Amino acid sequence: MLSTPLGPGAELCPLEPWQAEELAAFTDRARDHLSPWLPWAHDVTDTESARGFLQRYADRQAADSGRILGIRLDGALVGGTIFRVFSAAQGSCEIGAWLSPEAQGRGLVTRAAGAMIEWAVEARGLARVEWLVSPANAPSIAVARRLGMTHEGTLRSVFGMSGTRHDLEVWAVLAEEWRKGNAPHPHE
Ligand SMILES: CC(C)(COP(=O)(O)OP(=O)(O)OC[C@H]1O[C@@H](n2cnc3c(N)ncnc32)[C@H](O)[C@@H]1OP(=O)(O)O)[C@@H](O)C(=O)NCCC(=O)NCCS
Repeated sequence: MLSTPLGPGAELCPLEPWQAEELAAFTDRARDHLSPWLPWAHDVTDTESARGFLQRYADRQAADSGRILGIRLDGALVGGTIFRVFSAAQGSCEIGAWLSPEAQGRGLVTRAAGAMIEWAVEARGLARVEWLVSPANAPSIAVARRLGMTHEGTLRSVFGMSGTRHDLEVWAVLAEEWRKGNAPHPHE
């Protein structure tokens, strides 16, 4: 119900505050895998903090300034995607994504992010979709490449996490490039 298919048994679905307990359990299981890259994986430590995180995205969705979605495989929550930034006024947005270790290697995030880009570009008329990633995060950089994005530059020492300053590469695809590519490039 209310979902976008991502292939056999897989779907992209709403993820809402009432599902906080499930997100907290998922984050506990996947924390070691997620926390090197995702600041929120440090903050979501129990059902209450998961509910707060989901409520912030529910509020952003109501304000049309962000959105969170879950990725399910055979019904189980195995990952998610966010519009961390979404501005219809500026015509741009930023997507983020994650998977549990065992759900990797099937193209789930490439397809989920592709569905989000398609929606942002075609349904919402946005001109630009960004993907911000640590230079050390090779699997995530590979997703940006598969989506046909361009590495535009690197923001140096842009945020602190676990006592260390981190760089972020800015990858992006413009609406006309997305339309020309017409779909993710699965194996580039
Ligand atoms: C980043 C992350 C989401 C990438 O996961 P992933 O499974 O590699 O990405 P995809 O879902 O796009 O799948 C691509 C993989 O599936 C394979 N694949 C299989 N069928 C595919 C298909 N139809 N289309 C695309 N890829 C497919 C690809 O070959 C690739 O595997 P490979 O790296 O072994 O070559 C994951 O590593 C993760 O959650 N990391 C921790 C959190 C994180 O870093 N998030 C991003 C922060 S910027």
